[in-house]
Amino acid sequence: MYDYDLVVVGSANADLVIGVERRPAAGETVLGSDLAVHPGGKGANQAVAAARLGARTALVARVGEDPHGRLLLDSLSSAGVDTSAVAAGRAPTGVALITVDPSGDNSIVVSPGANGRLTPGDARAAERVLRSAPVVSAQLEIPLETVTEAVRLLAPGTRFVLNPSPPRELPAELLEACDPLIVNEHEARVIAGDGTLGDGPEEWARALLALGPRSVVVTLGAGGAVTAEADGGVTRVPSVTVDAVDTTGAGDAFTAALAWRLGLGESLPVAAGYAARVGAAAVTREGAQASYPTAEEVAAL
Ligand code: RIB
Repeated sequence: MYDYDLVVVGSANADLVIGVERRPAAGETVLGSDLAVHPGGKGANQAVAAARLGARTALVARVGEDPHGRLLLDSLSSAGVDTSAVAAGRAPTGVALITVDPSGDNSIVVSPGANGRLTPGDARAAERVLRSAPVVSAQLEIPLETVTEAVRLLAPGTRFVLNPSPPRELPAELLEACDPLIVNEHEARVIAGDGTLGDGPEEWARALLALGPRSVVVTLGAGGAVTAEADGGVTRVPSVTVDAVDTTGAGDAFTAALAWRLGLGESLPVAAGYAARVGAAAVTREGAQASYPTAEEVAAL
């Protein structure tokens, strides 16, 4: 038996959010809403999203010894996430500057802070936690070498799920460990690198699969997702229609839900269908972690 259903390795940020009518162009100033400060960061978001759905979850991360770090630890703890592998110090807590427009779309600039100091040594210090779940997920707001080290530490048979966000070229060792690699269109283009993705999401998924991952999920926002597996199966998964208020963190909720359900033994298309509903629920409320649904809310959607 495992101690956790899901272990997440990744970032924790304080999200400084301003609503704007439109984003400023270079050299331009626009006025926005009052500032809201929310707990965020792709890693912490995934951990909170999974825990809110009922998964036993732990996070491997680093925050600063400052009020933003305490905001993150409070949010994680109240969601029920095990924070025993969240280290503190070396730099201020990561910060994300976020603008949200009236359609709910966001633009984000991240100052990694302590996330950038989450080292391969920190991953080794968390080895027991990393080997205590059937599924481990990660993103790329922490150093690539730390993600790679975490993968090397996994017990045989542990499933590794990666959302390469923000995207960068990935070494073969990491690509080949992904089951699945989860990307949106922008991330797919960066990972593929040479603009040869093909014409539609099914083609993108096939092209990415050819790079080495064991499986691929292409997320399409309100359009749902496409899954592709090594046996050749490519499946279009629908989403549900909702009124979007704030899309921040919806992709993290999708990834967390997918990873958790895979660990429960669901097939990739079935898990992606559930994850699409979780992502849809998350865009109906403001903020990232504050917007995540319970399993009951997903069932009612
Ligand atoms: O994916 C959304 C997240 O990206 C935000 O919470 C922000 O912190 C950035 O990491």
